[in-house]
Amino acid sequence: MDARTLKIEAARAALEHVEDGMKLGIGSGSTAEEFVRLLAEKVAGGLRIAGVPTSERTAGLCKELSVPLSTLDDMPELDLAIDGADEIGPDLALIKGGGGALLREKIVAAASARMIVIADDTKLVEELGKFPLPIEVNRFGLHATMGAVEKLASRLGLSGPLAIRKTNGEPFVTDGGHLIIDASFGRIPDTRALSDGLNSIPGVVEHGLFIGMADTAIVAGDDGIRTLQATR
Ligand code: A5P
Repeated sequence: MDARTLKIEAARAALEHVEDGMKLGIGSGSTAEEFVRLLAEKVAGGLRIAGVPTSERTAGLCKELSVPLSTLDDMPELDLAIDGADEIGPDLALIKGGGGALLREKIVAAASARMIVIADDTKLVEELGKFPLPIEVNRFGLHATMGAVEKLASRLGLSGPLAIRKTNGEPFVTDGGHLIIDASFGRIPDTRALSDGLNSIPGVVEHGLFIGMADTAIVAGDDGIRTLQATR
């Protein structure tokens, strides 16, 4: 099966967890967009949900497909968030933010009673870090912040280039107006220490390590769908 078909299959399986009347966090990225398309069909058939999108791009797709939207200000507690991931590691720790939406994705996941991750099985890894870790930073003091991230990495025995994400030669700007540093560490043995360290750097707005947030992963492969549960 090709990658798109696998994403659709994972999204279809996640849709079975969506119940009438739910308040839903709606993720970003190509897999989440397949979920939005399937969700829109259900909504057209009478399913009632209210969604909080995790990016302007997802919001645009939901509007185009008439998926009802709300905001976290109007619905601060959500029943379920469904989102993709760049890597799914042990105990469903994730790297997210390949599409640059990690800040809103983490806020929405934290506001949700449950989080389901949907992906094709190429996203499953034994150790996080091969995918460059996205770190969202304030523009102010960018180079001081990058220096602080480098010092933290070296203290934790991590090395690898930090790159300011660019699109068409210009710095990529997130929905929140920030920049993204992609940190190519290769492997991150102690995800908790890195997460805590990054959270303590003032110029870091948020980072793409999602630890202890996903409850379930629905992973599609050529041999079918696998549902993985976090052990928490
Ligand atoms: C968006 O910022 C990301 O966190 C996505 O959830 C992640 O990049 C997965 O995207 P794909 O489904 O396109 O691989």
